[in-house]
Amino acid sequence: MMGVSFPLASVSLLSHLRFIPIPITASASASASASASSWLLLCLRNGSWRRKHAAAVTKWDHRHHYSSFASHSLLKQRLSHSVAVRIRYDNGGSGGEEEAVLMSTVLGIETSCDDTAAAITDLLSRYGGVAPKMAEEAHLQVIDQVVQQALENANLKETDLSAVAVTIGPGLSLCLRVGVQKARRFAGKFRLPIIGVHHMEAHALVARLVHKELEFPFLALLISGGHNLLILARDLGDYVQLGTTIDDAIGEAFDKTARWLGLDMRRGGGPALEELAREGDPHSIKFSVPMKQHKDCNFSYAGLKTQVRMAIESRNINTEKNVISSIDCEDRKARADIAASFQRVAVLHLEERCERAIEWALGIEPSITSLVISGGVASNQYVRLRLDDVVERNDLQLVCPPPRLCTDNGVMVAWTGIEHFRLGRFDPPPPEDEQEDTVQFDLRPRWPLGEEYAEGRSKARSLKRARVHPSLTSIIQASVKLHR
Ligand code: KG4
Ligand code: ZN
Repeated sequence: MMGVSFPLASVSLLSHLRFIPIPITASASASASASASSWLLLCLRNGSWRRKHAAAVTKWDHRHHYSSFASHSLLKQRLSHSVAVRIRYDNGGSGGEEEAVLMSTVLGIETSCDDTAAAITDLLSRYGGVAPKMAEEAHLQVIDQVVQQALENANLKETDLSAVAVTIGPGLSLCLRVGVQKARRFAGKFRLPIIGVHHMEAHALVARLVHKELEFPFLALLISGGHNLLILARDLGDYVQLGTTIDDAIGEAFDKTARWLGLDMRRGGGPALEELAREGDPHSIKFSVPMKQHKDCNFSYAGLKTQVRMAIESRNINTEKNVISSIDCEDRKARADIAASFQRVAVLHLEERCERAIEWALGIEPSITSLVISGGVASNQYVRLRLDDVVERNDLQLVCPPPRLCTDNGVMVAWTGIEHFRLGRFDPPPPEDEQEDTVQFDLRPRWPLGEEYAEGRSKARSLKRARVHPSLTSIIQASVKLHR
């Protein structure tokens, strides 16, 4: 879906939608008629009912001098929440006098359903893993209401919208389909263009929303339930993959360890484990750091998981019957020691890979000044602390979105939609009478963000390449060449 861009001539077709893509960075001074513009985003997330966007974003500063506000809601259905964000840009030179000549409104839909995303939290605790069919059901049950509720909360009508942004990958096909189907129905009915969003790109780019000084190129460590990526972001849509995981992601290791330690998974495995680890001695168990012998930027967490499993078994901790809330002090201390030791080594692995990635990235793009960390695990305070040390040693700065924007959220999808939208990267509205049973939706469950850094390819890599979609970067770069 992404990569198709409207030639400007056809924009008139959409003028009744009050839609014009303005490349704000480049055009602010060049375009006299568009000295200012506003964008209104409406984002939603099939959601974790626990993770409220309690503090709605009230004001963000941004590179393009904008003010913003957000409203938020938590659906009573307990599985969903939604966020609406309004952002007004004004041209730096205009001093805000010539305001908002155009208004664009983007609806963002996120249903990629990686691991703990969205309604899966409950499913995780009950079934010990993501049950795609049940996740799909959960999304299906609430999607219409979520969209409706989000519009109501933002005090908007469908006709106020200018585009729809939706996550098309990577993620679980069944879940992605729910979002894409809803987005296409909605966009078809209200004649709105669509922006297909890469879930991991959204994790990285949300940092540019909250840190106005963050320019390309930058280095990004994206750590979530399903992904462990070290990315050199050279430009919007131009990413080099310096490293990825050869087996499990760090979030998966946190979740499994938390489960084996009998923690309350309803709060999410990662946060529960982080909390317990504060009570433990991080040096009590000598887990070995993964992939020491591989001098690259790839990750592996399967071996560490096995080490943890063995440590639990050797201490006779029975988590089947004993949940953490009902155990004695000694047992709790034993579990806390495992949690702390696991966390220390899991993060040490990140630190070592980041050290090398910084060296590589500076070799490719010497102007880099920032390391972005994002994804659910980046909300972990210990991770932040340790990586802060790493960047300081290397004279870089750490850019870390607030925890609520690190874990899956609607704002990141809407923001990524806007980033591409303003460069004209979107698809035309789908036909109003689209036959859903005959249309093959463009879903990209396994979709790399960028091409692998050739010199960093690991001998240990066993990445399954079957049915991997061409990377976002290769698609966008091909389209850029075509339109040059
Ligand atoms: O990015 P995310 O919200 O969803 C995916 O795209 O997977 O990341 C979810 C992952 C889960 O594995 C969750 O346990 C982990 O992030 N996580 C944490 C913390 N908060 C969330 N891991 C460690 N410490 C945390 N505080
Ligand atoms: Zn995510």
